[in-house]
Amino acid sequence: MTDNALSGRRIGIAVCGGIAAYKIAGLVSTLAQEGAEVDVLFTRDAARFVSPLTFQALTHRPVHTDPWELGTSGSITHVALARTLEVLVVAPVTAHTLARLAHGFADDMVTLVALATAAPVILAPAMDAEMYQHPAVRHNVALLQERGCRVIGPATGRLASGLVGIGRLADIPEILAEIEHCLAATRDLAGVRITVTAGGTQEPIDPVRFIGNRSSGKMGYAIAEVAQRRGAEVTLISGPVALIPPAGVHLKRIRTALELRSALHAMLSKTDVVVQAAAVADYRMQTPEQQKIKRTGATLTLQLVENPDIIAEIGAMPEHPLLIGFAAETGQNLEVARSKLRRKGLDLIVFNDITREGSGFGTDTNEVTLLPAEGEPLALPLLSKHEVAEQLLAWVSQMLHTRRQSI
Ligand code: PMT
Repeated sequence: MTDNALSGRRIGIAVCGGIAAYKIAGLVSTLAQEGAEVDVLFTRDAARFVSPLTFQALTHRPVHTDPWELGTSGSITHVALARTLEVLVVAPVTAHTLARLAHGFADDMVTLVALATAAPVILAPAMDAEMYQHPAVRHNVALLQERGCRVIGPATGRLASGLVGIGRLADIPEILAEIEHCLAATRDLAGVRITVTAGGTQEPIDPVRFIGNRSSGKMGYAIAEVAQRRGAEVTLISGPVALIPPAGVHLKRIRTALELRSALHAMLSKTDVVVQAAAVADYRMQTPEQQKIKRTGATLTLQLVENPDIIAEIGAMPEHPLLIGFAAETGQNLEVARSKLRRKGLDLIVFNDITREGSGFGTDTNEVTLLPAEGEPLALPLLSKHEVAEQLLAWVSQMLHTRRQSI
């Protein structure tokens, strides 16, 4: 990577209780000197081998050891860390922590952050040869590799026990190279301008009431956050939600579909990609009441008119950004989603059956099918909305790359 490529990058270094822990101070020192923002996490046994003070002095940041730690704003630290880290390195990773990671334990700061982050995880094992070659350890390493963890080392050489064999921590330059490789890969959207809409619109009935929907904004906010972390310049157009906007994005708040439309149209000439994840009302009051509607004992009829189909209007334009919409359906109506894709002139539609367990409105997970205008559908399993965002943005990155090649 170029000289300042690590500058400002958010790197988590998780230290376990092994004799090789002292070597990690050198890695942390190098990263900090390169300008990276390094957060150091300790397992309970790490402090038996190295002092948190050493790492605090190197990073000028607190070392995170207490799983119940709260941030200054009262936020839960492991969640905040998990969302901001661009890569998590567990080094040295012991047999015990490998087992806890492989089986989804969440009993200390290291395993909590490892479970909660969508960032790439690098594991650098260090232990005696017999332990590393034990079937249980081999099985745990294989499980973690299947889930996408990168395993660096261990090397073969003299071990703490005095024996010679496999189990030495990989050389620090090798771990550093893998960190740089991961960071380079995850900045694939550097320089790309992405506008994401999120949340539900609110259409006023009278000064007190509105027509709304169940969108929490989580899907759109996850896309904005992951896009920002992958280097994109992100504008987030958000309906009223109870979420903290991701760091580093430009936030525009809207309420009604017409306000969303205006905000989105204002971005069209300065964005490369539009992701319309917002739940936009199809109807609004023909004339919202200026006074609170009173009970009269009689049936109340509301006169509603159609809102413009915002994304379809953009899709009909001769020139428009890469256009991604969502299809919120009740049932496995891939064909309905496909017809929306075509009718609205989209490049891709994300089909989600909002009646499926763990999918759709308000959930932290979603089960979607990515349906491109050209190419095969990609049906994804139930994933976190951050992982859905990673998959969607990988398609965006590939599509932009293909378009640049064809120019
Ligand atoms: O916010 P969450 O709680 O995480 O929930 C996520 C979600 C379920 C809201 C999200 O995954 C989702 O499906 N968003 C789209 C909801 C929706 O409006 O789907 P639709 O099938 O009604 O609309 C199809 C597409 O047209 C959508 O991209 C929508 O934003 C867009 N649209 C719809 C109506 C309208 N007047 N203008 C539009 O642009």
